[in-house]
Amino acid sequence: MNIKTICCIGAGYVGGPTMAVIAQKCPHIKVTIVDINESRIAAWNSSDLSKLPIFEPGLDKIVEEARGRNLFFSTNIDKAIDEADMIFISVNTPTKTYGKGKGMAADLKYIELCARQIAKVSKQNKIVVEKSTLPVRTASAIKNILENTGNGVRFQILSNPEFLAEGTAVEDLLSPDRVLIGGDSSEEGKKAVQVLVDIYTNWVPKERILTTNIWSSELSKLTANAFLAQRVSSINAMSELCEKSGADVNEVSKAIGMDSRIGSKFLKASVGFGGSCFQKDILNLVYIAKTYGLEEVADYWEQVILMNEHQKQRFSDRIVSTLYNTVSGKKITFFGWAFKKDTNDTRESAAIKVADNLLSEQANIAVFDPKVVEERIYADLEHLNSRNPEENRTLLKVENDPYEASKESHAIAVLTEWDAFKTYDWKRIYNNMNKPAFIFDGRGILDIKALQKIGFVCYKIGSGS
Ligand code: NAD
Ligand code: UGA
Repeated sequence: MNIKTICCIGAGYVGGPTMAVIAQKCPHIKVTIVDINESRIAAWNSSDLSKLPIFEPGLDKIVEEARGRNLFFSTNIDKAIDEADMIFISVNTPTKTYGKGKGMAADLKYIELCARQIAKVSKQNKIVVEKSTLPVRTASAIKNILENTGNGVRFQILSNPEFLAEGTAVEDLLSPDRVLIGGDSSEEGKKAVQVLVDIYTNWVPKERILTTNIWSSELSKLTANAFLAQRVSSINAMSELCEKSGADVNEVSKAIGMDSRIGSKFLKASVGFGGSCFQKDILNLVYIAKTYGLEEVADYWEQVILMNEHQKQRFSDRIVSTLYNTVSGKKITFFGWAFKKDTNDTRESAAIKVADNLLSEQANIAVFDPKVVEERIYADLEHLNSRNPEENRTLLKVENDPYEASKESHAIAVLTEWDAFKTYDWKRIYNNMNKPAFIFDGRGILDIKALQKIGFVCYKIGSGS
């Protein structure tokens, strides 16, 4: 089968960049990304490339090249499904907030809606690809829905989880460590896998394309995120021990990372991991383990989340205790709100929890983030439902300039590792702050010795000195 048209349902952080790269690398394939969110689609179609709904380094160039040629963004979902030979499902799979599995299981209602819509609209055989991160064995539910339409259309279901990280999405997509494709072992299943392999070989070396059975593929995605998050929680656990013992967590990371069995990546201590996936996917893994009655497995992975919660809590506790046990009425400036640098995504960002804790202590917070807009920050706080929106707006102000944000502040808390923070005129910031002026570097990115020389009182995550 020769794929001529692709439809991707879900124009989010995964659907947008992933399909833009497929379109760029496969100009012979028409790629249409659809979404129910009209304003998101309008933003993807914006002629001003700085208005794309997602900020990712390099993405604007790719969209500029492919959009209108063989890359299209649309809200006409039925039409795109009908025309497509292959459909990627890339919708959100958040943690369930209701019913059985509330707070743990993945909410699959958006996936099911997609499957039902594909079943209803399709008139010709299609390959359906799970791009979203899903619990193991979801493909069988999708298959059931698709195969019971009675209209004779045949579907092949593949699992092709996405491993891109935000902030480096384009790089990760252009040169992935591996592409994973899971499929059925039947003749038709194998053919479908090959069709998707052929798309990726347009730019990914064959040896980096791994094919497995569908359940291994689904479970590998959850496992990869669990292992990555576990490394962050492990080094964060050590960061607390470093602070007590006089060791420096950066030195410990370096020392253990040079062991080739451990490796140096993902060993950066922080105020806690954020992002839309680590917590959601581990909770989902814990839930799956529990449903199979594997209590020890569930408890083991749950600890990664508990450690992360502890890390965020102890960072805000540290700010309060250092500022003489009260922050009531004191101005604290946040540098960074995004969950990591080079993205405007704030989902589950550690900054939200730290802000919430400090606002409960009646601190006044000023936030500066180079990419996150004011409405997003207030929406994040409102989502927590800890205070009324008015109170959030009175106690927390969003600033567009770091120097303005730190004026008359008692302390600066670094919540995101934006590179630009290292280049600021820290002397100027110091001069405009209340004294003693404190810095709480939750990302370990600043030159603490230089800041101490200026006069700052410094706390750096994982450093006992
Ligand atoms: P997102 O919320 O940014 O995007 C999902 C989009 O799907 C939204 O725009 C939503 O409007 C749309 N949508 C939902 N239901 C729809 C429907 N029935 N029809 C049409 N559109 C619909 O989510 P995301 O971050 O792109 O994540 C998508 C999936 O990919 C999740 O399962 C996530 O776990 C996984 N994932 C995310 C990342 C990441 O870095 N964000 C990386 C790898 C995997
Ligand atoms: C993560 C994975 O890295 C991707 O492979 C995966 O596809 C994606 O989740 C997903 O499934 O959504 P992402 O969350 O975008 O990607 O970003 P990461 O670089 O993994 O960072 C996650 C969080 O961990 C961030 O808050 C980051 O600051 C933190 N982190 C990361 C640390 O605190 N220390 C580290 O050493 C690395």
